[in-house]
Amino acid sequence: MSREDLLAVMPQDSVEEKQLLDGIDFARLPRHVAVIMDGNGRWAKKRMMPRIEGHRAGIASVRETVETSARLGLKVLTLYAFSVENWKRPELEISGLMLLLKHYLRSELDTMLKNDIRFGVIGRPEALPADVQDELMRATERTRHSQGLLFQLALNYGGRTELADGVRRLAADVQANGLDPATIDEATLARYLYTAGQPDPDLLIRTSGELRVSNFLLWQIAYSEIWVTDVLWPDFRRRHLLQAVVDYQRRERRYGGIVAS
Ligand code: FPP
Repeated sequence: MSREDLLAVMPQDSVEEKQLLDGIDFARLPRHVAVIMDGNGRWAKKRMMPRIEGHRAGIASVRETVETSARLGLKVLTLYAFSVENWKRPELEISGLMLLLKHYLRSELDTMLKNDIRFGVIGRPEALPADVQDELMRATERTRHSQGLLFQLALNYGGRTELADGVRRLAADVQANGLDPATIDEATLARYLYTAGQPDPDLLIRTSGELRVSNFLLWQIAYSEIWVTDVLWPDFRRRHLLQAVVDYQRRERRYGGIVAS
């Protein structure tokens, strides 16, 4: 899509959004953006509401982020929706989150198809409730021919769990299929991760101001640019994503080297 075409279809609700879009170099977009969606609980607490209302409000942010990412032309968007540690939360909050997820997937499927979005999951979804798994499989299956954005949810995801799962499968291939350990390098291990074949995140966004990576994509974020905002996830809007992209494009990525002068 040309810049003019994109600007024509991208909603620009404010002067700020228009200025941000004007400042984006479409030839140097991040290919993969990963987001730690944090602050739903605090958003609800500030309003004297139950925590689940923060998660419910966070869905509007998910929608806007997915739509904007697709329109910008990003290749991959990964949202951290439920970690392996999140099972420690109260049962009511977990079941509420699962219900929200199920309804979200059902209601968004047509929009995903319309926007040429391919849906996917990383993590261990097999431990999620059966009805949620059904919706995940349906969305994955129905959107599998889409050519645009790969939108994936990290569900029952842990970075260390992912590495352990990958190493276990790799060891099984050494044992059963004669893979030579001497040939194992970084690219080999990357092929055994949930994200096999995907570009690593160029940009990692975290909301609500915490300076932690919280066991998210530990291997893949080795060289990611990190953008942290104090905005709580339910308040995260298109302009915040655009701000992150503009800021990313100002950074000098060196991958441990030096920049030629
Ligand atoms: C972190 O906020 C957020 C989560 C653990 C869940 C994220 C879920 C959603 C945005 C809604 C459902 C998702 C989809 C994809 C439909 P927190 O609860 O840890 O906030 P706190 O740190 O302020 O307590």
